[in-house]
Amino acid sequence: MVRLISFALKPTITGDLVTLRPVSADDAADLAAVSPETLRLTGTHSGPFSLDELRAWYGSRAEHADRLDLAVVERSTGRWAGEVVLMNLDPVNRSCGFRILLAGPEWFGRGLGTEATRLVLGHAFDLVGVHRVELTVYAFNPRAQHVYRKIGFVSEGIKRQALLWDGEWVDAELMSMLAPEWASHRGTPDGAAGQDG
Ligand SMILES: CC(C)(COP(=O)(O)OP(=O)(O)OC[C@H]1O[C@@H](n2cnc3c(N)ncnc32)[C@H](O)[C@@H]1OP(=O)(O)O)[C@@H](O)C(=O)NCCC(=O)NCCS
Repeated sequence: MVRLISFALKPTITGDLVTLRPVSADDAADLAAVSPETLRLTGTHSGPFSLDELRAWYGSRAEHADRLDLAVVERSTGRWAGEVVLMNLDPVNRSCGFRILLAGPEWFGRGLGTEATRLVLGHAFDLVGVHRVELTVYAFNPRAQHVYRKIGFVSEGIKRQALLWDGEWVDAELMSMLAPEWASHRGTPDGAAGQDG
């Protein structure tokens, strides 16, 4: 019998640096203020959206069992630092997509993204029973590529010229992690340094 999985449960997950908690309409102003650099690195062409549209978007995420939208909140300050999302759940094949954004350069390079990614992967693999998590990362984003490799995502190939940004074609790398891989390293394939929890 096929075991169907779901993201209906919207958890709060606490790490050392960040807390991940369900997004709410009240986060919309922070989402609206995401930096141009973050929009570039995520290849975001859509928008700008009004505050009401963003409130409606965040306010309705709890209704969707095929995705999990969590705010990344810095524990020491309680500030909204970004979001991490598991989406496009295929409940039969137990696969989903992953994406993350921190709001801007003030947040980059402080370990929040690494920890948030490990925390949400732990939820996906250990609690939900996901088998495969995939992502794409653009060639002009070496920081994100480094973080994903460090955590144990495996490259599956290049989607050539997948993004047109400022008149330039940009390749996208497809990466994935499988449940047995997560079970073997829990996001630290090179050893225990930096492991959460
Ligand atoms: C990508 C992102 C989630 C990473 O989170 P972060 O908190 O900035 O990253 P961390 O501080 O946890 O780790 C950064 C790592 O990248 C390394 N790094 C930084 N700049 C780098 C560069 N130009 N090339 C290679 N590695 C780089 C750091 O040395 C560090 O590695 P280490 O832990 O082995 O020392 C975050 O920067 C972000 O949201 N960026 C904007 C949006 C985005 O790019 N989202 C991903 C789209 S696929």
